[in-house]
Amino acid sequence: MEAFIETLMSKMTLAEKLGQTNMAFIGRDITGPILSQNVDEKIRQGLIGAIINTYTVEDVRRIQQLCIDESRLKIPLLFSYDVIHGHRTIFPIALGLSATWDLKLIEQSARIAAEEATADGLNWVFSPMVDIARDPRWGRISEGSGEDPWLGSQIAAAMVRGYQVDDLSRTDTILACVKHFALYGAAEGGRDYNSVDMSPLHMYQYYLPPYQAAVNAGVGSVMTAFNGINGIPATGNRWLLNDVLREQWKFEGLIVSDYAAIKEMSVHGVGDLQEVCIQALTAGVDMDMVDEGYLETLKKSLDEKKITEQQIDQACRRILEAKYKLGLFNDPFHYCNEKRAQTMIFTEKNRSIAKEIACRSFVLLKNDRQILPLAKSKLKLGLIGPLADDQKHVLGGWSAAGDWKQCVSVRQGIQNLLQDQIEVFYAKGSNLIEDPLILQQLNAFSNDISLDNRSADIMIEEAVQIAQKSDVIIAVVGEAQSMSTEGGCRVDIGLPECQKRLLKALFETQKPVILVLMNGRPLTLPWEHEHAQAILETWFAGTETGNAVAEVLFGFYNPSGKLTSTFPRHVGQIPLYYNHKRTGRPFDPNRFIDRFKVNRIRTHFN
Ligand code: BGC
Repeated sequence: MEAFIETLMSKMTLAEKLGQTNMAFIGRDITGPILSQNVDEKIRQGLIGAIINTYTVEDVRRIQQLCIDESRLKIPLLFSYDVIHGHRTIFPIALGLSATWDLKLIEQSARIAAEEATADGLNWVFSPMVDIARDPRWGRISEGSGEDPWLGSQIAAAMVRGYQVDDLSRTDTILACVKHFALYGAAEGGRDYNSVDMSPLHMYQYYLPPYQAAVNAGVGSVMTAFNGINGIPATGNRWLLNDVLREQWKFEGLIVSDYAAIKEMSVHGVGDLQEVCIQALTAGVDMDMVDEGYLETLKKSLDEKKITEQQIDQACRRILEAKYKLGLFNDPFHYCNEKRAQTMIFTEKNRSIAKEIACRSFVLLKNDRQILPLAKSKLKLGLIGPLADDQKHVLGGWSAAGDWKQCVSVRQGIQNLLQDQIEVFYAKGSNLIEDPLILQQLNAFSNDISLDNRSADIMIEEAVQIAQKSDVIIAVVGEAQSMSTEGGCRVDIGLPECQKRLLKALFETQKPVILVLMNGRPLTLPWEHEHAQAILETWFAGTETGNAVAEVLFGFYNPSGKLTSTFPRHVGQIPLYYNHKRTGRPFDPNRFIDRFKVNRIRTHFN
């Protein structure tokens, strides 16, 4: 590899080397501002090294072909994508996956994701996301494995094994990318992108282990984080990227910035585009995701002797090494196999494993008087709630190329399982959320929350009528998927008001109510906990949601998931996590009771 790359680099111009460090955006999804222009022409000139957000063999082949046929050195492109919890077959969101505590299954989910993604032309996934998070207000808590560094580390390694299988040259393995390095989950106040101020002790003890576990498992790439760390943005942080990652942990792979994170260092106040690019390169960032700052400014910085050619060579070399290990120099169309695309994606087998994993991720939070499992026959079931017949939100955030039309709703899942053995009455009961400002923000990118034409009162009335003729009520409530994803932070992590109104009306019928929750974060549920007879946490469980929920509700599968992040009773308690240090005066509920007793005794003797 060294000899091959040395020879190749000896033929490259400075512009072509910088081209390798440049990732351009083409394609379907938007995760930030669209910054790439004239992509085809730049590919011809050798000014692009990787593409984000293009997949399918057809599209990848067309672009790779352009590169091979029309660029001078014919250096194949990397094709990257956010495959986070499955590619076409969608598994539970990562927080749900972690609740399985089942490393084999988690690894298998990554294996299947890699098989499907590579069959779809991709060779690089931006996963695993291993940010430890203790603040459920942060929307991206849904993408990680909760609050425990040990479990997070095991999962990080399992995911890397699933994606890469220690041999990147196979057609069904894919370059993994651990993110977001580092401490992104500790954003102050749970507000996305926010700064982090943390002692090194705390970092090493709680937050850094999962990233290191991914490095030890051989992860091929690392993505930087948007946040600042103790005053310096992670993307330009030499201590973090060089001293810790490269020198202490001996990471030899490729470092890519997060989306436009280099350019955004200017907004942090670091300097103009030229300055932030110098800082990112000097810190150790090899590839610039979409903002083209490296391409535009590094030549000037070299001329002005603010950086050296060796630094550019180093970045370029690491990118070429990744391409070499993926086998792209042997065959640039290694991942463009139409037959694999037809046979490996969204197969029956993959769906059945997705169902098993979904079942395993569910957490039974409450089950009073063993109301669950439900009887499989002679039952009148009131199936109520804005998520009871939903196919869209069950996918969860970052559901890559998942197609909601292929998802199974709870209503459908019950029908699939029991056909006409029980009677099911359905009512939507309420909208998912009604606050106009929040709705506007949530719908800005996806438009996936539509309001019912009927008034809240009429929807509730219909639900109550159905409840009254039912033996038991299943209320499927929770969040919209976009409420817990990037930028999806909340100050109030309870159920939205309109859903609470519905629940109140249902509780008032005195019928037993079982809550089936769908959400991407811990929620505050003390009132619901008091009134519901059972609560089943199902997260956003992916493609097979409905089939899995039905199996668990009716006792075909015994739920065994365990929480990996703490559910607070009130937002005021945040941050609340299990592995906190003791204070000198730990809370003792009996202390106050004792004091009352003492007072009463005193009064008695007086
Ligand atoms: C996210 C990353 C993601 C990247 C590319 C960013 O906004 O923070 O997690 O991999 O976009 O889509």
